[in-house]
Parts: sequence; structure tokens; C-alpha cells
Amino acid sequence: MSGNFVHFIYRVLSGSRCSISGVVGSFIGCLILLHLSSNFNHKDEGDRGVQVQLRLTHHPQFHELQEVEEENIKIPPPKGKRSSRAAKQRRRRTNPLIDEFLDEFLDENSQLKHIFFPGRKWAMGPLKDAQNESYYYYPGRIWLDTDGNPIQAHGGGILYDKNSRTYYWYGEYKDGPTYHNKKGAARVDIIGVGCYSSKDLRTWKNEGIVLAAEETNETHDLHKSNVLERPKVVYNDKTGKYVMWMHIDDANYTKAATGVAISDTPNGPFDYLGSQRPHGCESRDMTIFKDDDGTAYIIYSSEHNNELHIGPLTEDYLNVTSVMRRIFVGQRREAPALFKHQGTYYMITSGCTGWAPNEALAHAAESILGPWETMGNPSMGGNKVFRLTTFFAQSTFVLPLPGFPGSFIFMADRWNPADLRDSRYLWLPLIVGGPADQPLEYTFEFPLWSRVTIYWHRKWRLPQGWTGLK
Ligand code: DGJ
Repeated sequence: MSGNFVHFIYRVLSGSRCSISGVVGSFIGCLILLHLSSNFNHKDEGDRGVQVQLRLTHHPQFHELQEVEEENIKIPPPKGKRSSRAAKQRRRRTNPLIDEFLDEFLDENSQLKHIFFPGRKWAMGPLKDAQNESYYYYPGRIWLDTDGNPIQAHGGGILYDKNSRTYYWYGEYKDGPTYHNKKGAARVDIIGVGCYSSKDLRTWKNEGIVLAAEETNETHDLHKSNVLERPKVVYNDKTGKYVMWMHIDDANYTKAATGVAISDTPNGPFDYLGSQRPHGCESRDMTIFKDDDGTAYIIYSSEHNNELHIGPLTEDYLNVTSVMRRIFVGQRREAPALFKHQGTYYMITSGCTGWAPNEALAHAAESILGPWETMGNPSMGGNKVFRLTTFFAQSTFVLPLPGFPGSFIFMADRWNPADLRDSRYLWLPLIVGGPADQPLEYTFEFPLWSRVTIYWHRKWRLPQGWTGLK
């Protein structure tokens, strides 16, 4: 292994020591006050958290999911030699943390690569399942569809279609060569949005490319030379249409827009309606969240990724309205994944380090438009490096598990910047409940949020008896 990855890990760890001591030093008094005041003022919220925890932990299969599983991956000492390709790339980039990570995965001789990107022989999927291995998730392994091909649905999200009682997984179909641009991020030509259907969330049938790239017209948003990322689909009960929103960009990420497409059926084809800068603002990583009352919201990174914007869509879900709130201003968050539990809104976000992983944060709000409070890093288990890199992955969606309130599937992408088509999926249990999180941001009206935890597992499965269908 080149020494770069070791340096990467060292910098992550030393960086975190600084920030933790800073936070402790500056806010220790506030935390004590907060702890005391929240115990007096927010008993209801605390009780609610305890109830959720009890319900989940009483279910025997949730014991398994909430077990803290540790990792003891040994990092070999540095060889002190860099590949010449990696060295050239390194000179062109500016952020040392990203350099270290990308160098490792651009290095053909990397020994760690096979741990985080195990080969085809370890793939999971219906055709590979021995009897007793069925229904287990193996985060990071190649995931095969019912035809035996690797699933191509990166940066994706899931729609549960009540009409057909079927789950649909949409994502970036990236099965093409990766180009390493001199200036911008590594990229793959647009091929389109892949769609897969499932009744059990483990066995996925390829429904094809439901929104395809434009091959010839270079001025079209979907021309293959552009960027299409993070597609999300919601169903509009009033119009009966399936509406897809996605990040649309040029190869250098300067267009920073959102695109909209529409279909009569969940498995497409979707008609592309066009793109815009929502609220007249840059829009890069984004997601859509449909609330219980049928209102849908767009959440996107804006202002050079310095802040997130959130606002309701029009009734037909085809446009934004004039309402928009700026959140996490100056905090540089992206990859938003929003979910709701017992009337509280939660969000997982990542930092902004291109295809390299970084630390996830969990946030909570009583109203979807804010104020949003940051709770902290939700990653549990693995080891310190795993937790500081979101298990070497980046959030994309959080899916509620019907029938088990407070339990969700955290969906993330483990990007492979050397070969983006070989990026992996990490699905892990996310549980809301248990001891309340200490807030990092302080206000006098602060509610005591329930803890949000993403549990690392090398292997796990949904609770038995979970039918998957509402
Ligand atoms: C991070 C984003 O989350 C991804 O969707 C993608 O845009 C990469 N950056 C590109 O570097």
C-alpha cells in the first residue's frame, strides 16, 4: 500500500482531536446547563424517546441490529512510495485530505482496496444466495440484480408505490468508463437513471433505464457529456403522476441546476421537462421529501455548497414556490437525506470532499423549514476511522421500515473514484430513539432530540416477519 492512506487516516484523526477539544473547551458550561435544563423542560420528548427505545429493543431482532460491531482492520505501515499516476494527480489537486484518499484508490497496488471493494466472488444477490444467506445485506459488496448483473443505482432513493405494493429504487446508472478531468471531479458520461423493483428490499429486478441520456443534441441537459446525479422520485396523489427531480450539471459543475421529469408509471419512461436554478440559486446535491400532508419539499446545496436551501414544491410537484429557507449557513453540507419520526424531522448530511468520504452529521427540527439543529455524528461501531468517514460512504436516502416505528434503512454510496461504476452501496440500520443526543447548537428553547444512530454491520438482515409491504 502507498503511505497516502495512512496519512489520510492520521489527518482525519488528528483533525478530529483538535475540533473535539475545541468544542469541549468552549461549550462545557453550556452543555451542563443544557443537560440540566432539558431534563426539567422536555420530559415529554425524553419519555417519547425512551418509549421508542423500549419498543425496538424489546423486539429480539432489533437487539442484533443495535449491537455495536467493532472493526479491527490493521493499516500496514507506509511504503514511502507513491504511484507516478497518483503523484501527477496529486500535484493538480489542492485539498490534502482528498488527495490522500483518491491516491489510495487510484493506486493499482493498494492493499486496502480489496477490503472496501471486495471482488465479484463476494457479490450478494438472488443468484448467489445459498439458502441461509438469503436476505442478508453485506454493506460494500457488489450487489447483483435478478439477472445476475451489478445494480446500477448510485446516489439513489426509494419510492414505495402503494398502487403496485412494490418498492422502486432509482439512481445514477454509471456503467461506463470514468474520466479523470484535469480540472473537475472524476466523472462518467450520463447514461441515464436506472430503476429496480422489489417486494422485499433485497431482491431487485432491473426495470431498465427510465430516463435516458441524449446522444446527439449537445445543448440538451441530458447530453451524455453533462452530469445527472441524485435522482429522487415522489408520487403525486392529486395528479397521479410520478415526478423525478435530479441534479443537472455540466462536466465542470458550473451549471448547478435541478431537472424535473414525469411519468404515468413508476417504471417509466419519464419525460424530461427541463431544468432551472431553484429560487434563482445554485443547486448541486439535492433530495426531495414528501411529508404526511402530501406537501413535497426540495432540499439542495447552494452558494458554492456553503449552505442548504429548503422549500416546498408546488401542488403538482413540478416547480418550486417562492418559499425558501437557508439552513446550515457556512457549514458546507451536502448529500442531504431527510426523514420524519413522530412529528420530528431528521436529516443526515455529509461534508463536501468530492468523491472522498467524510463525517456524517445528524440534524433535527420541529418544523421542516427550521430552525434545524445539528446533533452530531450518528455513526456507531466499526472503528474511529469508520465513524469519521461514515463507513467510507456518503448518505443518499433514509427509508422508513413500515411496521417498525423509529427504524429506518440508511442508504449510502461508497464511491470508487478510480472506477465510478464500481461504487458500492452501504445499507445499514438507522434507529431513532434511546438516550437523547446532546445538541451542539445552543438556544434557550432547545428540545432534547432523540438519538439518531446508524449501526455498522458487516452482515445484517431485516427483522424476520417483516413483510415489507404496507
Ligand atoms: C459529492 C456529491 O455528493 C456527489 O453527488 C458528486 O457530486 C461528487 N461530489 C462529485 O465530486
